[in-house]
Amino acid sequence: MRDINQFTVTQAVKDSFKTEPGSRFEQLLQGLIDHLHDFTREHNLTHEEWMGVLNFLYDCGQISTPERHEFILLSDVLGFSALVDMINTKGGATEGSNLGPFYLDNAPRKALGCNLADDREGVTVLVHGKVTDSLHNPLPGAIIDTWQADSAGTYPIQEQEQGQDKYDLRGIFEADDHGRYYYTTVLPKPYTVPYDGPVGDLLRAGNRHAWRAAHLHFMVRAPRMASITTELFFENTEYIDNDAVFGVRRSLITKLQPAKNLDALGYALEKKPDAVCEFNFVLAPEG
Ligand code: BEZ
Ligand code: FE
Repeated sequence: MRDINQFTVTQAVKDSFKTEPGSRFEQLLQGLIDHLHDFTREHNLTHEEWMGVLNFLYDCGQISTPERHEFILLSDVLGFSALVDMINTKGGATEGSNLGPFYLDNAPRKALGCNLADDREGVTVLVHGKVTDSLHNPLPGAIIDTWQADSAGTYPIQEQEQGQDKYDLRGIFEADDHGRYYYTTVLPKPYTVPYDGPVGDLLRAGNRHAWRAAHLHFMVRAPRMASITTELFFENTEYIDNDAVFGVRRSLITKLQPAKNLDALGYALEKKPDAVCEFNFVLAPEG
Protein backbone atom coordinates (compact mmCIF):
# COMPACT_ATOMS: atom_id res chain seq x y z
CA MET A 1 0.00 0.00 0.00
CA ARG A 2 1.36 3.42 -0.86
CA ASP A 3 2.28 5.71 2.01
CA ILE A 4 1.04 9.22 1.36
CA ASN A 5 2.51 11.88 3.58
CA GLN A 6 3.13 15.58 3.14
CA PHE A 7 6.27 14.89 1.10
CA THR A 8 5.13 11.99 -1.09
CA VAL A 9 1.70 13.39 -1.92
CA THR A 10 3.15 15.69 -4.60
CA GLN A 11 4.57 12.84 -6.68
CA ALA A 12 1.42 10.76 -6.12
CA VAL A 13 -0.74 13.55 -7.54
CA LYS A 14 1.60 14.04 -10.49
CA ASP A 15 1.59 10.30 -11.21
CA SER A 16 -2.20 10.17 -11.10
CA PHE A 17 -2.44 12.19 -14.34
CA LYS A 18 -1.88 10.06 -17.44
CA THR A 19 -0.84 12.83 -19.80
CA GLU A 20 1.15 12.47 -23.00
CA PRO A 21 4.77 12.14 -21.92
CA GLY A 22 6.82 15.24 -22.74
CA SER A 23 3.78 17.24 -23.87
CA ARG A 24 3.41 20.91 -23.01
CA PHE A 25 0.25 20.08 -21.05
CA GLU A 26 2.17 17.57 -18.95
CA GLN A 27 4.99 20.07 -18.25
CA LEU A 28 2.62 22.83 -17.20
CA LEU A 29 0.41 20.61 -15.05
CA GLN A 30 3.32 18.94 -13.26
CA GLY A 31 5.02 22.31 -12.71
CA LEU A 32 1.82 23.77 -11.32
CA ILE A 33 1.38 20.88 -8.87
CA ASP A 34 5.02 21.17 -7.75
CA HIS A 35 4.75 24.92 -7.14
CA LEU A 36 1.37 24.76 -5.40
CA HIS A 37 2.51 21.99 -3.07
CA ASP A 38 5.86 23.68 -2.37
CA PHE A 39 4.06 26.94 -1.58
CA THR A 40 1.68 25.13 0.80
CA ARG A 41 4.52 23.36 2.63
CA GLU A 42 6.79 26.43 2.77
CA HIS A 43 4.08 28.54 4.36
CA ASN A 44 2.39 25.85 6.47
CA LEU A 45 -0.97 26.96 5.07
CA THR A 46 -3.75 26.73 7.66
CA HIS A 47 -7.28 25.54 6.90
CA GLU A 48 -8.55 29.13 7.35
CA GLU A 49 -6.01 30.52 4.90
CA TRP A 50 -6.68 27.77 2.35
CA MET A 51 -10.46 28.32 2.62
CA GLY A 52 -9.88 32.10 2.36
CA VAL A 53 -8.13 31.60 -1.00
CA LEU A 54 -10.90 29.33 -2.28
CA ASN A 55 -13.63 31.72 -1.17
CA PHE A 56 -11.79 34.61 -2.81
CA LEU A 57 -11.68 32.67 -6.10
CA TYR A 58 -15.36 31.78 -5.69
CA ASP A 59 -16.18 35.50 -5.24
CA CYS A 60 -14.18 36.34 -8.38
CA GLY A 61 -16.35 33.86 -10.29
CA GLN A 62 -19.56 35.22 -8.77
CA ILE A 63 -18.92 38.81 -9.86
CA SER A 64 -17.70 37.88 -13.35
CA THR A 65 -19.96 38.45 -16.37
CA PRO A 66 -19.22 38.38 -20.12
CA GLU A 67 -18.27 42.07 -19.75
CA ARG A 68 -16.40 41.79 -16.48
CA HIS A 69 -13.74 39.13 -16.07
CA GLU A 70 -12.54 39.40 -12.47
CA PHE A 71 -9.89 36.69 -12.97
CA ILE A 72 -8.21 38.75 -15.72
CA LEU A 73 -8.26 41.73 -13.38
CA LEU A 74 -6.71 39.54 -10.67
CA SER A 75 -4.03 38.45 -13.13
CA ASP A 76 -3.45 42.14 -14.00
CA VAL A 77 -3.02 43.44 -10.44
CA LEU A 78 -0.72 40.53 -9.56
CA GLY A 79 1.54 41.45 -12.49
CA PHE A 80 0.85 38.03 -14.01
CA SER A 81 -0.58 39.53 -17.24
CA ALA A 82 2.42 41.86 -17.48
CA LEU A 83 4.80 38.93 -17.05
CA VAL A 84 3.07 36.95 -19.82
CA ASP A 85 3.26 40.05 -22.06
CA MET A 86 6.97 40.48 -21.33
CA ILE A 87 7.83 36.81 -21.89
CA ASN A 88 6.00 36.86 -25.21
CA THR A 89 7.53 40.07 -26.60
CA LYS A 90 9.65 39.08 -29.59
CA GLY A 91 13.26 40.24 -29.80
CA GLY A 92 13.53 43.57 -31.60
CA ALA A 93 9.77 44.19 -31.56
CA THR A 94 7.90 46.86 -29.62
CA GLU A 95 7.23 45.63 -26.10
CA GLY A 96 3.76 44.30 -25.41
CA SER A 97 1.40 45.59 -22.72
CA ASN A 98 -2.14 45.08 -21.39
CA LEU A 99 -5.04 44.44 -23.72
CA GLY A 100 -7.44 45.54 -20.96
CA PRO A 101 -11.18 44.88 -20.97
CA PHE A 102 -12.28 47.58 -23.44
CA TYR A 103 -11.07 46.22 -26.77
CA LEU A 104 -13.74 45.73 -29.47
CA ASP A 105 -12.75 43.64 -32.45
CA ASN A 106 -14.76 45.48 -35.09
CA ALA A 107 -13.89 49.13 -34.59
CA PRO A 108 -14.66 51.45 -37.52
CA ARG A 109 -12.07 52.01 -40.25
CA LYS A 110 -10.73 55.57 -40.11
CA ALA A 111 -8.84 57.68 -42.63
CA LEU A 112 -5.31 58.82 -41.81
CA GLY A 113 -5.35 62.40 -40.54
CA CYS A 114 -8.83 62.20 -39.04
CA ASN A 115 -9.73 63.42 -35.57
CA LEU A 116 -10.80 60.42 -33.48
CA ALA A 117 -12.23 62.62 -30.75
CA ASP A 118 -14.83 64.61 -32.76
CA ASP A 119 -15.69 67.64 -30.62
CA ARG A 120 -14.73 66.14 -27.27
CA GLU A 121 -13.11 68.39 -24.68
CA GLY A 122 -9.43 68.08 -23.99
CA VAL A 123 -5.91 68.60 -25.25
CA THR A 124 -5.79 67.64 -28.92
CA VAL A 125 -2.75 65.55 -29.64
CA LEU A 126 -1.30 64.39 -32.95
CA VAL A 127 -0.38 60.71 -32.62
CA HIS A 128 1.96 59.66 -35.37
CA GLY A 129 4.92 57.56 -36.40
CA LYS A 130 5.87 54.60 -38.54
CA VAL A 131 5.32 50.89 -38.50
CA THR A 132 8.53 49.10 -39.49
CA ASP A 133 10.33 45.79 -39.16
CA SER A 134 13.36 45.58 -36.90
CA LEU A 135 15.65 46.71 -39.75
CA HIS A 136 13.63 49.95 -40.04
CA ASN A 137 12.01 48.84 -43.30
CA PRO A 138 8.56 50.46 -43.43
CA LEU A 139 5.52 48.19 -43.48
CA PRO A 140 3.02 49.92 -45.82
CA GLY A 141 -0.54 48.76 -45.24
CA ALA A 142 0.14 47.77 -41.62
CA ILE A 143 -3.04 47.90 -39.55
CA ILE A 144 -3.12 50.10 -36.45
CA ASP A 145 -6.13 49.44 -34.24
CA THR A 146 -6.41 51.93 -31.38
CA TRP A 147 -8.77 52.61 -28.47
CA GLN A 148 -8.58 54.90 -25.48
CA ALA A 149 -10.28 56.74 -22.61
CA ASP A 150 -11.35 60.39 -22.91
CA SER A 151 -9.99 63.44 -21.11
CA ALA A 152 -12.02 62.47 -18.03
CA GLY A 153 -10.58 58.95 -17.94
CA THR A 154 -13.72 57.23 -19.24
CA TYR A 155 -14.10 54.82 -22.16
CA PRO A 156 -17.27 55.62 -24.15
CA ILE A 157 -18.16 51.91 -23.93
CA GLN A 158 -18.59 52.44 -20.15
CA GLU A 159 -21.19 55.15 -20.74
CA GLN A 160 -23.52 53.53 -23.25
CA GLU A 161 -26.44 54.01 -20.84
CA GLN A 162 -25.73 57.76 -20.97
CA GLY A 163 -26.05 57.66 -24.76
CA GLN A 164 -22.39 57.27 -25.72
CA ASP A 165 -21.51 55.29 -28.83
CA LYS A 166 -19.29 52.37 -27.80
CA TYR A 167 -17.23 52.82 -30.98
CA ASP A 168 -16.22 56.38 -30.09
CA LEU A 169 -12.55 57.05 -29.44
CA ARG A 170 -11.46 54.00 -31.35
CA GLY A 171 -10.57 53.24 -34.93
CA ILE A 172 -8.57 51.14 -37.35
CA PHE A 173 -5.99 52.88 -39.54
CA GLU A 174 -3.99 51.55 -42.46
CA ALA A 175 -0.39 52.77 -42.68
CA ASP A 176 0.46 54.69 -45.88
CA ASP A 177 3.07 53.76 -48.53
CA HIS A 178 5.85 54.84 -46.15
CA GLY A 179 4.47 52.84 -43.24
CA ARG A 180 3.26 56.05 -41.58
CA TYR A 181 0.18 56.46 -39.42
CA TYR A 182 -1.21 59.76 -38.10
CA TYR A 183 -4.38 61.02 -36.49
CA THR A 184 -5.46 63.43 -33.80
CA THR A 185 -7.31 62.62 -30.62
CA VAL A 186 -7.75 63.91 -27.07
CA LEU A 187 -5.13 63.22 -24.44
CA PRO A 188 -6.57 60.53 -22.14
CA LYS A 189 -6.59 60.86 -18.36
CA PRO A 190 -5.78 58.18 -15.77
CA TYR A 191 -8.64 55.99 -14.55
CA THR A 192 -9.19 53.25 -12.02
CA VAL A 193 -9.56 49.55 -12.69
CA PRO A 194 -12.85 48.24 -11.19
CA TYR A 195 -12.35 48.01 -7.41
CA ASP A 196 -15.89 47.21 -6.20
CA GLY A 197 -15.24 43.45 -6.19
CA PRO A 198 -12.88 40.92 -4.63
CA VAL A 199 -9.86 42.29 -6.51
CA GLY A 200 -10.66 45.73 -5.05
CA ASP A 201 -10.71 44.10 -1.59
CA LEU A 202 -7.29 42.62 -2.33
CA LEU A 203 -5.94 46.04 -3.36
CA ARG A 204 -7.30 47.62 -0.17
CA ALA A 205 -5.89 44.80 1.96
CA GLY A 206 -2.49 45.53 0.43
CA ASN A 207 -2.82 49.33 0.77
CA ARG A 208 -2.72 49.71 -2.99
CA HIS A 209 -4.55 52.14 -5.28
CA ALA A 210 -6.51 51.15 -8.40
CA TRP A 211 -5.24 53.84 -10.79
CA ARG A 212 -3.80 53.25 -14.22
CA ALA A 213 -1.40 55.77 -15.78
CA ALA A 214 -3.01 57.54 -18.76
CA HIS A 215 -2.44 55.52 -21.92
CA LEU A 216 -3.45 54.80 -25.50
CA HIS A 217 -4.07 51.18 -26.51
CA PHE A 218 -2.82 49.71 -29.79
CA MET A 219 -2.97 46.47 -31.68
CA VAL A 220 -0.67 46.55 -34.69
CA ARG A 221 -0.40 43.91 -37.40
CA ALA A 222 1.02 43.36 -40.87
CA PRO A 223 1.21 40.32 -43.18
CA ARG A 224 3.83 37.73 -42.15
CA MET A 225 4.70 39.71 -39.01
CA ALA A 226 3.76 38.85 -35.42
CA SER A 227 1.00 41.17 -34.21
CA ILE A 228 1.59 43.26 -31.10
CA THR A 229 -0.79 44.48 -28.42
CA THR A 230 0.61 47.36 -26.48
CA GLU A 231 0.02 50.75 -24.86
CA LEU A 232 1.70 54.16 -25.01
CA PHE A 233 2.19 56.31 -21.92
CA PHE A 234 3.23 59.92 -21.37
CA GLU A 235 6.37 61.04 -19.57
CA ASN A 236 5.98 62.66 -16.14
CA THR A 237 2.30 61.85 -15.81
CA GLU A 238 0.53 60.54 -12.72
CA TYR A 239 0.88 56.83 -11.83
CA ILE A 240 3.62 56.31 -14.42
CA ASP A 241 5.73 54.64 -11.69
CA ASN A 242 2.93 52.78 -9.95
CA ASP A 243 0.41 51.76 -12.60
CA ALA A 244 -2.04 49.36 -10.91
CA VAL A 245 -1.58 46.66 -13.56
CA PHE A 246 2.19 47.05 -14.19
CA GLY A 247 1.60 47.98 -17.84
CA VAL A 248 4.21 50.74 -18.10
CA ARG A 249 7.56 49.90 -19.76
CA ARG A 250 10.26 52.51 -20.20
CA SER A 251 10.28 51.92 -23.98
CA LEU A 252 6.54 52.72 -24.16
CA ILE A 253 6.75 56.14 -22.50
CA THR A 254 6.52 58.98 -25.00
CA LYS A 255 7.37 62.64 -24.49
CA LEU A 256 4.69 65.04 -25.63
CA GLN A 257 6.14 67.75 -27.87
CA PRO A 258 4.72 71.15 -28.72
CA ALA A 259 2.81 71.24 -32.00
CA LYS A 260 5.36 73.17 -34.07
CA ASN A 261 6.59 72.89 -37.68
CA LEU A 262 3.94 70.33 -38.51
CA ASP A 263 3.76 71.40 -42.19
CA ALA A 264 7.10 69.65 -42.72
CA LEU A 265 5.40 66.34 -41.93
CA GLY A 266 3.09 66.76 -44.91
CA TYR A 267 0.04 65.34 -43.14
CA ALA A 268 -3.48 66.48 -44.03
CA LEU A 269 -5.04 66.79 -40.56
CA GLU A 270 -8.72 67.28 -39.86
CA LYS A 271 -7.98 69.16 -36.61
CA LYS A 272 -5.06 71.32 -35.53
CA PRO A 273 -3.27 69.66 -32.59
CA ASP A 274 -2.00 71.28 -29.36
CA ALA A 275 0.71 68.67 -28.79
CA VAL A 276 2.46 65.82 -30.58
CA CYS A 277 3.10 62.22 -29.55
CA GLU A 278 5.45 60.30 -31.84
CA PHE A 279 6.02 56.57 -31.65
CA ASN A 280 7.38 54.04 -34.13
CA PHE A 281 6.02 50.51 -33.85
CA VAL A 282 8.40 47.69 -34.70
CA LEU A 283 7.07 44.27 -35.71
CA ALA A 284 9.10 41.06 -35.75
CA PRO A 285 8.54 38.23 -38.23
CA GLU A 286 5.90 35.66 -37.39
CA GLY A 287 6.88 32.30 -35.95
C1 BEZ B 1 -7.31 49.10 -19.35
O1 BEZ B 1 -6.23 49.46 -19.74
O2 BEZ B 1 -8.25 49.56 -19.94
C2 BEZ B 1 -7.42 48.15 -18.20
C3 BEZ B 1 -6.42 47.23 -18.02
C4 BEZ B 1 -6.50 46.35 -16.97
C5 BEZ B 1 -7.60 46.37 -16.12
C6 BEZ B 1 -8.61 47.30 -16.33
C7 BEZ B 1 -8.52 48.22 -17.36
FE1 FE C 1 -7.03 51.16 -20.90
